[in-house]
Amino acid sequence: MKDPEILRAQHRERYHADPLLFAAPGRVNLIGEHTDYAEGFVMPAAIDFATLAAISPRSDGQVVLYAENFGEERAYTASSLPNTATGHWSDYPLGVLAILAGEGYTIPPLSLSLWGDVPLGSGLSSSASVEVATATAVLGLIGATIPGPRLARLCQRAENEFVGANCGIMDQFISANGQADHALLLDCRDLSFQLVPIPTDVALVIANTMVKHSVAGAGYTSRRASVEEACAILATHRPEIKFLRDATVADLAAWGHEIPPESLKRARHVITENDRTVAAAAALNSGDLKTLGRLMHEAHVSYSQDFEASCVEADTMVDLAQNLPGLLGARLTGGGFGGCTINLVEKDKASAFAASLGRLYQQATGITPEIHICHASDGAHAISSRLA
Ligand code: GLA
Repeated sequence: MKDPEILRAQHRERYHADPLLFAAPGRVNLIGEHTDYAEGFVMPAAIDFATLAAISPRSDGQVVLYAENFGEERAYTASSLPNTATGHWSDYPLGVLAILAGEGYTIPPLSLSLWGDVPLGSGLSSSASVEVATATAVLGLIGATIPGPRLARLCQRAENEFVGANCGIMDQFISANGQADHALLLDCRDLSFQLVPIPTDVALVIANTMVKHSVAGAGYTSRRASVEEACAILATHRPEIKFLRDATVADLAAWGHEIPPESLKRARHVITENDRTVAAAAALNSGDLKTLGRLMHEAHVSYSQDFEASCVEADTMVDLAQNLPGLLGARLTGGGFGGCTINLVEKDKASAFAASLGRLYQQATGITPEIHICHASDGAHAISSRLA
């Protein structure tokens, strides 16, 4: 991560004001894919890629946003901020400001510098980290606090209602509530959660296929539609099924013939994934890494074959990992159709694992992957929360 002091110095030079500094991480999901919007279970961890936010007050009535990564500034009148997206990076911070304003918070004139190292379009939640960093910074500036689960919900609304991407709650939740050295089992129905320690001798090896993915893309939207279609059909028999979270494989056996074949497969993934996620958390909690690895593998097969949200490159990356020393479990992580695989690897073998996987993937696909040995990190936090 960039040294926050560098961002502080850049902000000070640009806006002639000493800023408050905040960070909000990206995430990797260990298991539980496309289950969040079905009110099911997910088990992500925050990672050591993050968005940093430097924020300071202004006296000229403007809200000025600066993206260090793009070297680009946007300025608005604080009293009449935009309320529609334009397909620009500024949609993410502006969406958060719009939602906070809608919740009754007055957005004061401010300068906000954002810098991030979460790889874009790689399934590691760069957008959620921008949203949560923005919200945390603005609340820090105005001296307000919002509990982590509610903060996550507001940032999800920024993405759903302002940006226009129909994502679930997972990414914003873990960015706001993650804890170092832990995964987080989240019940997306009531947002109750349990922190599950990751053993100190296990590394999170994140392997980027370099195939870009997007939550706003057609694949994500069509999968969600299929899940909702299957749910609606099951609900005609059991009205208590409000989301696929409420359905079982027995329901699919009884009424699956009424569901179009494609949606039936999507539903089978979601229903079995919920069970796998709860079982995976129990396995991690009890140190049964063998079971955890098996569940991750089953989750990948289900994601690839029933949900059809993988791609040749991700399947190759997962396959190549299987025979490498130290692997505990591997699967495609995130919204699908590209992005990264998550590999749980014995820590002392992680460097050799990463090197071998990179070489084998390059040989197999002709693509040079980026492979990162990551740690489970803290969720959003202040780096310095008082103006000098
Ligand atoms: C994206 C979305 C999440 C979740 C995952 C799939 O990351 O933002 O809400 O649906 O895809 O598990």
